[in-house]
Amino acid sequence: MTWTRRSFLTYLGVGSYATLTACRVGSADFPVSRRKAAPPDWFQPIGPSLADELIVPHGFQVDLIMKWGDDLGSRDPDGQPEKFGFNNDFIAYFPIDALQGGTNAAEGLLWVNHEYPNPLFQSGYTAADYKAGKRKTVEQIMAEKLAVGGSVVHVKLEKSGWKAVVPSRFNRRITAAYPEMALTGPAGAVLRSAVGSLANCSGGRTPWYTALSCEENFPDYNGNDPNDPKCRWSDVPGMAIDETRYGWVMEVDPFGELPPVKHTALGRFKHENCAVTRGAKGQIVVYMGDDEADQHLYKYVSAEPDNPKASRAERRKLLENGTLYAADLGRGRWIPLLFNAETKAAIEKSAAYAAAKKADPNFQITNQAELLIHTRIAARALGATPLDRCEDCEVHPLDGSVYVALTNNTKHGNLYGHIIRLVEDRDDAAAETFRYEVFLAGGPQSGLACPDNLAFDKHGNLWVVCDMSSDKIGKGAYKPFGNNGVYVVPTVGPAAGDAFQFASGPIDSELTGPWFTEDGKTLFLAVQHPGENSPSLDKLTSHWPEGGSSIPKPSIVAIRGFV
Ligand code: FEO
Ligand code: CA
Ligand code: CA
Ligand code: CA
Repeated sequence: MTWTRRSFLTYLGVGSYATLTACRVGSADFPVSRRKAAPPDWFQPIGPSLADELIVPHGFQVDLIMKWGDDLGSRDPDGQPEKFGFNNDFIAYFPIDALQGGTNAAEGLLWVNHEYPNPLFQSGYTAADYKAGKRKTVEQIMAEKLAVGGSVVHVKLEKSGWKAVVPSRFNRRITAAYPEMALTGPAGAVLRSAVGSLANCSGGRTPWYTALSCEENFPDYNGNDPNDPKCRWSDVPGMAIDETRYGWVMEVDPFGELPPVKHTALGRFKHENCAVTRGAKGQIVVYMGDDEADQHLYKYVSAEPDNPKASRAERRKLLENGTLYAADLGRGRWIPLLFNAETKAAIEKSAAYAAAKKADPNFQITNQAELLIHTRIAARALGATPLDRCEDCEVHPLDGSVYVALTNNTKHGNLYGHIIRLVEDRDDAAAETFRYEVFLAGGPQSGLACPDNLAFDKHGNLWVVCDMSSDKIGKGAYKPFGNNGVYVVPTVGPAAGDAFQFASGPIDSELTGPWFTEDGKTLFLAVQHPGENSPSLDKLTSHWPEGGSSIPKPSIVAIRGFV
């Protein structure tokens, strides 16, 4: 028999297809996955790719819904046209009839986070400009402020695919410049309000159909790193941010009934996400990661149970009064972060407190508000486990266990990251004790590296979106994986813990914000930072999605073809 590629594939069967194609960018004797079982039978996994394309398996369609800079058809408080922001991250879908109890999977509202600006694309400002001593103008920084925050986009499934509805009374922006919003909870009594929101990474959706939008890398904006020219807002008088007003969870009502607020009871750190569920007594429970090396995993438990018959304005107050906990994996316990004489003494004895006091002699934690403003210091002092960069958390829809992506920690050689699984005692999300296990170790043996956003489909498959740093893609230890992609990981059966690649992103991009419609037939996805390593506008590394010589544009898409 003469071996052709076709007969080789037939001989191996579909289950080996991804392994074979992986050799295009991996090496023949070190395929990207040494998986143990056949893939799911409802899609043919793709292989890694370094192409400047969004690739999905045969039989699936991609609808481009909105690109950075597209007109939303709405006006900002200055009367200027509002545009879809930059670097789209988290997406949540809200059925258009959700407030009437419906689950419309063909028309709804998307809340989309816009995480961070890239001065090159907002105003042409480059790292070379910064090195040459050229400082940004007020107009350049304002363009960056308007590029971040979030967007509400009305969407509809038509015969030709998903489209944005423009204009729509629902479409609008929240930026780093607008609006002024209230801070609720213990620290809200001190800080009162914040101007806008920024660093909006991942998030969550509440049972009363609001979006929770997480402020992550807020220290980047004033620009304390002299080697990072990205934001440097504090270089220009009047443009710096008050950092105590950021690093919170913002709640936004896409339907426009309730004003946006930030909930300080959920703590202040580099908030990655919110996975919302209920405790055994009906409490609202929110799992949250802090995405920095050696930081912690948190959960919030509301003091009162949720009453689905109460108004939305009443139900949102559940996020104002409750207990914030940090995870101690070693002892399997959730540590309450409550200010009292005992915790005050422990905090003041800690190295983190001493370091803060050394930097600022006026530093203090003397009440619950100050504890929440400095959540990390309290968590560390009280025994929380340092982790390898908590990205997304998700609650398994069938068994309630909690999956947490720990993306990597290059400080001690965890280059590929891993995903852990927590099982709360008594299966009660409000429990103060839990067990945990490593569900998946990133790397060639499982098939993915640097897990970031997570989502579950209705069958209980875990969808994992990866974030290898864009300057390391296709190089060194990351070479076998190609560009960042999307992976399907069964959670039960012989393939549990094996990753099967579903999508591959364009050059320099990270795919973010996976979210399924309630019927499971559409997957919304965000393509973030394509071409982010471009040194200048005439040396672009990506031209996605418009091709040719166009500039790359972060965009949101819908993927159809699920049965
Ligand atoms: Fe914005 Fe942790 O990802
Ligand atoms: Ca992330
Ligand atoms: Ca998620
Ligand atoms: Ca990440």
